[in-house]
Amino acid sequence: KSYKSQDAKQVSRAVLDWYDHHRRDLTWRMPPGIEANPYHVWLSEIMLQQTTVEAVKPYFEKFIHRWPSLADLAAASQDDVMRLWAGLGYYSRARNMHRAAQVIMTEHGGKFPVTETGLRALPGIGDYTAAAIAAIAFGQRALVLDANIERIMARYGAVAERLPAAKPALRKVLDQITPSRRAGDFAQALMDIGNRICTPPRRKGDDWSQPQCLICPLSSSCLGRHQNPSSWPRKAPKTARATRHGYVMVVISDDHHVLLMRRPSKGL
Ligand code: ADE
Repeated sequence: KSYKSQDAKQVSRAVLDWYDHHRRDLTWRMPPGIEANPYHVWLSEIMLQQTTVEAVKPYFEKFIHRWPSLADLAAASQDDVMRLWAGLGYYSRARNMHRAAQVIMTEHGGKFPVTETGLRALPGIGDYTAAAIAAIAFGQRALVLDANIERIMARYGAVAERLPAAKPALRKVLDQITPSRRAGDFAQALMDIGNRICTPPRRKGDDWSQPQCLICPLSSSCLGRHQNPSSWPRKAPKTARATRHGYVMVVISDDHHVLLMRRPSKGL
């Protein structure tokens, strides 16, 4: 083992400390020590799948203004839900979210399941989202591992394996430093650190931006720090995608109306 549990404790304390002073102020977040609203946490996590925080902010506000509770959302028509979601993309998220709200109302008496397994059984909730909700809304010690946290763990543990095979190793590193208390704050701290400090390599003019190790709360025991941190995570080479061909037809009537057809809920 390359680091000791004393280091792990010190690092998780430093991360939580950083969060208390530097976390992003986001509507769905609660100040440390105040219980989060599971409906808000769930809604934000669904919206944040494949979408940036900046893009999500106004949609989150619109949704909780229009449907202040889970019961309100469950009772809404699918058309209204889709209309408010328009522009966020990945529309199956909205359909699954609406169905999950109805399942929670009819099968769980309006209360969110509190375990990762229970959460994963709901439409639209996978491993990552179940862990995020369990930790952030219910204070459980769940391992929240999204792509940003994978990058941080790969650097922190100098994990040589390539993604996606490296996932179990990355999970192990995360397990070593996740505290038993405030696991939700810890996860969100890592998300903010991934966004602001331990950033992915990005082109900046003629240069590549570098992670800000000097101000990183994980740096004291980060194994990747002194060996070009940007070289993690290692990734398997991309396989070539098949090119698919298709036809698109547009029907316009003599009086300039466009014929529209509702797509099926699955497929194109
Ligand atoms: N991305 C996904 N969930 C998030 C959260 N709770 N805070 C910030 N970014 C996130």
